Amino acid sequence: MKRRVAVAISGRGSNMAALLDAATAPGYPAEIVLVVSDRPDAAGLATARRAGIEAVAVDRRAHADRSAFEAALQAELDRGAADLLCLAGFMRLLSPAFVAAWRDRMINIHPSLLPAFPGLDTHRRALEAGVRLHGCTVHFVRTEMDRGPIIVQAAVPVMEGDSPDSLAARVLAAEHRIYPRALAWLAAGRIKIEGERAMVEGLDPAAAAAPLIWPPV
Ligand code: GRF
Repeated sequence: MKRRVAVAISGRGSNMAALLDAATAPGYPAEIVLVVSDRPDAAGLATARRAGIEAVAVDRRAHADRSAFEAALQAELDRGAADLLCLAGFMRLLSPAFVAAWRDRMINIHPSLLPAFPGLDTHRRALEAGVRLHGCTVHFVRTEMDRGPIIVQAAVPVMEGDSPDSLAARVLAAEHRIYPRALAWLAAGRIKIEGERAMVEGLDPAAAAAPLIWPPV
């Protein structure tokens, strides 16, 4: 039985599209049953519909407060019988109660190598800090923003002459590779959480990647 997954977005939805695409593979252990956006104008809603996926807006501004908004969001998730939730460019902080209800079933992608650069504007901040490696992280969601057991990270080099946009594009390509893998591991029941650490079972130790060294030595 494939796990039923909802994806929450606020905008473009390119990570959502990467998840939809991966989930079309016959052996993929999850099916995307619903896309939800807190913004009715999110471009990703139309992308999802074109792919034949139900996509609904739960407009934050149409709800008096966060708890009314979250109740409406939860109602949609219940209606879709979603049992996993992927945040993909979803720009709202969720309440401790909502996070608790989805504990270990809700994951997020963040465009930095956490715990470096939580929050917004990560690419500009990485350039300003002068880091040589930057990247992205898929992690379980906890109450604190951009914190939670890390499932997978991808590192990319920061090139001389990078702008926030050129760096963002390099990171985004890596996001599209790692998010579908992280969801597949979660859906297949291959992730164990011990304290702050997430462990992926059944990885091939021989497939361990070479270190990414930048600049090259
Ligand atoms: C991505 O960089 C994601 O990591 C961040 O917001 C961006 C969303 O892009 N949280 P998209 O909507 O998936 O194209």
